[in-house]
Amino acid sequence: MKALLTRRIPSSVLSRLEAVHDVERYDGPSPIPEDELRRRIADKHALICLLTENVSAETLAVAPDLKIVANIAVGYDNIDVAAARGRGIVVTNTPDVLTEATAEFTWTLILAAARRLGEGERLLRRGEWRGWALDFMLGTELRGKQLGIIGRGRIGRAVAAKAPAFGMKAVFARHDLSLDELLVTSDVISIHVPGGDSTRHLIDRKRLARMKRSAILVNTSRGSVIDEEALAWAMQEHLIAAAALDVYEREPNVYAPLLAMENVVLAPHLGSATRETRTAMAELAVENVLAVLAGQPPKTPV
Ligand code: DGY
Repeated sequence: MKALLTRRIPSSVLSRLEAVHDVERYDGPSPIPEDELRRRIADKHALICLLTENVSAETLAVAPDLKIVANIAVGYDNIDVAAARGRGIVVTNTPDVLTEATAEFTWTLILAAARRLGEGERLLRRGEWRGWALDFMLGTELRGKQLGIIGRGRIGRAVAAKAPAFGMKAVFARHDLSLDELLVTSDVISIHVPGGDSTRHLIDRKRLARMKRSAILVNTSRGSVIDEEALAWAMQEHLIAAAALDVYEREPNVYAPLLAMENVVLAPHLGSATRETRTAMAELAVENVLAVLAGQPPKTPV
C-alpha cells in the first residue's frame, strides 16, 4: 500500500515500513505546505505526520483510500479527529515513549527559570560578567516550595514524581486543589494539558493576576493554553516573577515582547527532543501504520 511521510525519520525505522509498503517522503526544508499535502495524500492509504502538519477535514476529504493518520507526537490538536472518525480513518499518537524526556525537560526549564540560567549565560557571552559577587544574579530556591501542576496525565504525573528530589511538594489542579487555589498558592506552576479548543487561553489575564508575584510559570504542553499577550502584560506589570516556555501559540513565531524579557526562558519546542525518544516516537508511529495496513488494531489509537 502507499504511505506518505511528511519528514525524515531514522533510516532504521523507515526501512521497516519500506520493506512492506511503498513510501513517499516529503523532503522540503520546512513543514509540508497544506496544498502540497493535499496533492500528495490523494492516493495514499497511510499518512505519517508531525504536529507541524494541519490535517484538516478538507485535507482528509481528498484521500478516499486513507486508513490511518499516524501523528509522531502525543498531542494531536493538529488533526481533525472527529472528521477522521467520520470517514473511518484511524488516528494514532505516540504516548508513553516521550513521557520521561518531556518531564526531564520540564525540570530543565523550572531550574533554568528559578536560577536565571538564560539571563546569566547571555550576560557572560556579551562579555559583561564582572566576577563573583555576593548579591549577583540571585535566583530562588526550590526546596520547601509548592509545585502546582495543571493536567494529571502521564507527563504531569512524571513531573510530579521528580518533585521530592528538589524538596518540592507537588499538587494537582482539580485533584488536590481547585485551579484557583492552585494558582494562588503555588510557587511554580507547570502546565500539562492537551491543546485544542477546550484549553485555549486557559491561562489568561484573570488567572495570571491570581498567581503569586514570585511565581514561575512553565509550559511544555501547547502554546495555545497560554494567552501570550496576557503573559507579556503580566510580566511587564511584575504580576509573576518568571516564565519558561517550550511551546508557542504560533510556532515557530514567538510573541515579540516575550523575546525582549530577560526573565522569560524560551526553548524551541524541545520537550521530547532526545535521540532515544524521537526514535521511539517514529518507531511507534510506524508500528501503528504497519498494524492498521495489515488489518490489525493500532497500538496507540487516540
Ligand atoms: C508532542 O508529542 O505532542 C510534543 O509536543 C512533541 O513531542
